[in-house]
Amino acid sequence: MGTRGVGAGVGPSATRWGSSLDVGGGTAVLTRLAQDRRRDLVYHIVEPQKGMLRYARAYGEIHQAHAEDLPFEHGSVQMIMVGEALHHFVDPKIAFAEFARVLVPGGGLFIFEFDPSRTMGRFMATGERLLGEPGHFFTPDILAVMAREAGFLPNLKTRGWKYVLLGRRELTS
Ligand SMILES: C[S@@+](CC[C@H](N)C(=O)[O-])C[C@H]1O[C@@H](n2cnc3c(N)ncnc32)[C@H](O)[C@@H]1O
Repeated sequence: MGTRGVGAGVGPSATRWGSSLDVGGGTAVLTRLAQDRRRDLVYHIVEPQKGMLRYARAYGEIHQAHAEDLPFEHGSVQMIMVGEALHHFVDPKIAFAEFARVLVPGGGLFIFEFDPSRTMGRFMATGERLLGEPGHFFTPDILAVMAREAGFLPNLKTRGWKYVLLGRRELTS
C-alpha cells in the first residue's frame, strides 16, 4: 500500500471548481499523485517550510502555514490530503477541527499514516521521537475515533503497518 489511491475518494462532490489541500504537503508528492487522476481540481499545498514550498510551487498554489491554522474560509474546500504528515503536527486534534471547518459538508479527507502498534510503525515512532519530532502516531482505530469526533464519517484501509483513513465530512455538523 502506498499513497496511490489519492483522488479515488474524492467522489462526485468535487467538480471543476473544486479545491484540494495537501496539508503538510512538503514538495507536493501527494498533489502530484492526485493530479494524475484529477487534472480538474485547483490544488493548494499547505506547508510551514519555505524550502519545501520552493519545489511545491510547480504543482499548485502554495501557502506557508500550519495545519492548526489553515488560511482558508469555512466550507471552501472539497478535499484535504495529508500524507505522512499528521504525526508531525503539534496538535492533530486542532488540525482535525480545522479540516472540518474548511471542508464543505460531504467533502473528502485522505490521511496516509503508520500504525504504531505494528513493529515497523513502532520503530518509526520511536525514531521520530528520538529526533525530537512530536511523533503523534495513532493506531487506525484511534484515528477513526478522532475523525468521528471532529465530524467525519471514516473508512479505514489498512495494509500491514501502513494505512489510509478516508473520511467524509458529515452533512449535518
Ligand atoms: C514527512 S513530510 C511529508 C511530506 C509530504 N506530504 C509527502 O508525502 O512527501 C511531513 C511534512 O509535514 C510538515 N509539517 C510539520 N509540522 C506541520 C504542521 N504543524 N502543519 C503542517 N505541516 C507540518 C513538515 O514541514 C513536512 O514537510
